[in-house]
Amino acid sequence: MSYVGTEMIVNNARKARVVVPGFNIPYLPMMEPVVRALRDCGSFGLIMVARLEWEKFESKSLRAIRDEYEKVKDPNHTRLHLDHVPVIDEDNLRVDYGAIIKEALDLGYESVMVDGSRLPLAENIECTAGVVALAKPYGVPVEAELGAVLGHEAGPLPPYEELFASKKGFTSPDEAKKFVAETHTNWLSVAIGNIHGAISAAGKQKEKPRARIDLEHLALLERATGIPLVLHGGTGIEPEYIHGAIKRGIAKINVATAIRQPYERTLSQGITAAQQAVYETMVDLIRNELRIVDSARVLNH
Ligand code: 13P
Repeated sequence: MSYVGTEMIVNNARKARVVVPGFNIPYLPMMEPVVRALRDCGSFGLIMVARLEWEKFESKSLRAIRDEYEKVKDPNHTRLHLDHVPVIDEDNLRVDYGAIIKEALDLGYESVMVDGSRLPLAENIECTAGVVALAKPYGVPVEAELGAVLGHEAGPLPPYEELFASKKGFTSPDEAKKFVAETHTNWLSVAIGNIHGAISAAGKQKEKPRARIDLEHLALLERATGIPLVLHGGTGIEPEYIHGAIKRGIAKINVATAIRQPYERTLSQGITAAQQAVYETMVDLIRNELRIVDSARVLNH
């Protein structure tokens, strides 16, 4: 039996104004309850790993994640995605991003992200276009990022209200238009008030600041790009903003902190208890925040 590719699934989401969530897996045992919750709710989602999750957490490697995925996957409900491979990472170090993405493509990852957002526009365009060319023979869609979705860096964030009011780091519609035309990226991660949950040892168990979304700015980006847009930093955004964003072109949303924190907090009671905490959080997110019960039926054809 052949299954619909991830590119089509995310296009279907954009048309139907439904969202495809991606769930980050910083600890391998988190994957099974994430897949189970998606299946039990009739939903569709991406299982994802970002480079920082094998460098700074315990997902081990691209291969370890792929092997775990092969054990627990359900193609009616899941695909495997490579999240953030930065060109310059959160510690300001240059990354051999091309080698990592090539390895993921060879291992069978079904969509990939290159994050050149810390580069000047022309260099981000050049790196992203290179990854689009690399992924093309595999038939795998590429996600890129333009603008500054802050939060993964060490040290405190600027005050959130200041950031939101000044639109500092927001993706520029004019730049986004040029970026999409010149890179042919399939999906674009945008900065519109969203922030990532902290990952530093000091910050990773703290409650994430509640973020809002500038829906008017997002509408400009949708018009300028015409491709599926991605909302990173999906934890802790009020559902009214999430659903306003889905109506204005967000077709994929990334969620990490919301499922990582319950896992880490419960782990002292054993892996089974921690997996149960992830499962319960997932079901709540699917039903009440993302509202994607039964979405697999709409997306997977
Ligand atoms: P959160 O940790 O805020 O959910 O962000 C996840 C994310 O965007 C990963 O790419």
